[in-house]
Amino acid sequence: MDDRLHKTYFPDDNIKNESHVRSMEQYKEMYERSISDPEGFWKDIAQQFYFKSQPQGKFLDFNFDVNNGPIYIKWMQGAVTNICFNSLDRHVQQGNGEKVAFYWEGNYPGDAGQISYAELLRKVCKFANVLKANGVKKGDRVAIYMPMIVELSVALLACARIGAMHSIVFAGFSAESLAERMQDGEVSILVTADGSWRGTKLVNLKEISDKAMEICAGKGQQITTCLVAKHLSATEETPVRNGTVVNDGGDCIDEATSEPGVRPCQHLKVNWTEGRDIWWHTAMASASEDCECEWMDVEDPLFMLYTSGSTGKPKGVLHTTGGYMLYAATTFKYVFDYQQHDIYWCTADVGWITGHTYVCYGPLLNGSTSVIFEGTPFYPDAGRLWQVVEKYKVSKFYTAPTAIRSLMKYGDSYVTKYDRSSLKVLGTVGEPINPEAWVWYHDVIGEGRCSIVDTFWQTETGGHTVTSLPGCTPMKPGSASFPFFGIKPTILDENCKPVEVGQEGYLVFSQPWPGIMRTVYGDHQRYETTYFKKFPGYYCTGDGAKLDEDGYIWVTGRIDDMVNVSGHLLSTAEIESALIEHQSVAEAAVVSHPHEIKGECTYCFITLCEGLEFTDALVSELKAAVRSKIGPFAQPDVMQNAPGLPKTRSGKIMRRVLRKIARGDKDVGDISTMADESVVELLFSLRPDC
Ligand code: WT7
Repeated sequence: MDDRLHKTYFPDDNIKNESHVRSMEQYKEMYERSISDPEGFWKDIAQQFYFKSQPQGKFLDFNFDVNNGPIYIKWMQGAVTNICFNSLDRHVQQGNGEKVAFYWEGNYPGDAGQISYAELLRKVCKFANVLKANGVKKGDRVAIYMPMIVELSVALLACARIGAMHSIVFAGFSAESLAERMQDGEVSILVTADGSWRGTKLVNLKEISDKAMEICAGKGQQITTCLVAKHLSATEETPVRNGTVVNDGGDCIDEATSEPGVRPCQHLKVNWTEGRDIWWHTAMASASEDCECEWMDVEDPLFMLYTSGSTGKPKGVLHTTGGYMLYAATTFKYVFDYQQHDIYWCTADVGWITGHTYVCYGPLLNGSTSVIFEGTPFYPDAGRLWQVVEKYKVSKFYTAPTAIRSLMKYGDSYVTKYDRSSLKVLGTVGEPINPEAWVWYHDVIGEGRCSIVDTFWQTETGGHTVTSLPGCTPMKPGSASFPFFGIKPTILDENCKPVEVGQEGYLVFSQPWPGIMRTVYGDHQRYETTYFKKFPGYYCTGDGAKLDEDGYIWVTGRIDDMVNVSGHLLSTAEIESALIEHQSVAEAAVVSHPHEIKGECTYCFITLCEGLEFTDALVSELKAAVRSKIGPFAQPDVMQNAPGLPKTRSGKIMRRVLRKIARGDKDVGDISTMADESVVELLFSLRPDC
């Protein structure tokens, strides 16, 4: 047994001595107050922010119990503020306008730029005016489908400034997924870019956007304006890219290249619909730099972000202004132990909640300097992340276990050739981290001197909920450890009884924290059913967890029909429905399956229509169907021919049996309720090599 996987690691003195929380006693004291006096705790924190008017009446008002009427959560009622003002204007007014807000690092090493707080504010005001000129008003939804460029943050902050809700769709989603989200969100304006390079792959965002707008139009929904940032095609009239001057290094060639190190730069031709499509730079050229904030009630919606739902239809998770602001800022400050001189880098895409909270709002609310990275960890080679760490002297770094696992495979030399002495805190998020990857992160990346923060949270929670803190928490590899301030976790069994130490149960939270989602856009009932119905009085995360004898929380993964592929939650029902749409497929059942790099992957059992053959060509078609319906990142890993599926007599597919078959585990458990037991043997005999 490798001792390093099971021992407890203590924060280094250098980190402890400068941190906001330096001992477990201090943590416990603050935590106790946050639970027993949440109003007082968060009221003190709210002092740091600007409010146009102060809260009146109850600072916290809520109902967490479905049996007591509708679920609602209201923090700081009556207060009026603007999160964009608090993220930008406040720092500029305090004399920090020249501080760098973002370093932008492009896909190709050498494509880089930077933007100060003052400059960012100027651009945000201009773009806010562009949105207004195109009819966007407070409460409207704006869809954003963009790569990791400064304009993405500009678009998001501009929406917040004028009180429009942003609905960002990750740029890896397909046209159909983008269309579905635009329809559900009832948007009429889309902000996108011409395209983006990810490693050696070109993503033609405008083409995908065109297709999505066409799908919407076919369903009677007109997207009346499409603003397009010109990112790939830096031309003479636009010698700047991403709003920042580019250090143009390397050869520029005009077509896709797969040669590492050669800058792939393509003058992408885009189709144009006059009257609808508008170039970002054209609109910005004439926009005014003055834009007064829309003063928002703290409970006014700030944004919605879609997340997979177990029924297959994505849910528009809705966050409001004031509570989200407090929570994003506070978790960022304590969990990364933010200090003035830090250079912070979160590798997540802004299209996911991690990017919303920890690339944009959290860092900006704290006035920090951070890196935005458009590329991938593997381009031009597996040392890219550490090269960027060296270049900017990154001190706080945040990434996903799947990235760590895949980089581990390339060996240590890609890491050690770069100087990582600036690093202090290393964060992980998205899925449970296996102790092997944790130890590699700690020992090799962090040279044994950095604190690791394993942060458990969700799109729904707005910010970190269970996490270690860099200066105080003794770290156990694989455990997210203790609740953040304001989070009161319990682990329950099916009957709503707390489980014993060491037993697995449902991870639930029994008190509202400021960053909790307030509703599902357009479907409050779904919000109540999904998160509050199973355990009245609690918010149910949908994750399993255990407590150990020292009180550490160990999150074990989803308990519902969701799969966590490389830190992205996917619904098995959504993949099944994409497969069933194929004319050759009679039935499909998708289950989660362990995967060395991705953590989990999807394993699909396919029942073909009578008389059809299960061929490689068909498998490729089915994979392509999922790519086009959901997006490339959702492509299934394993497809198995399943002439029959294990079902109960009432016709319900027995997924726990399918999970066993997928793993090749003959111990399938009780199958007495199965309609036709012979199916199990048949499926074992048809397992592909994987
Ligand atoms: C699900 C939420 C907000 C983070 C990005 C994903 C899993 C997340 C951890 C962790 C164990 C984790 C859970 C959760 N998860 N972080 N540190 N340890 N599991 O956001 O798409 O809303 O997914 O990710 O299963 O429910 P999301």
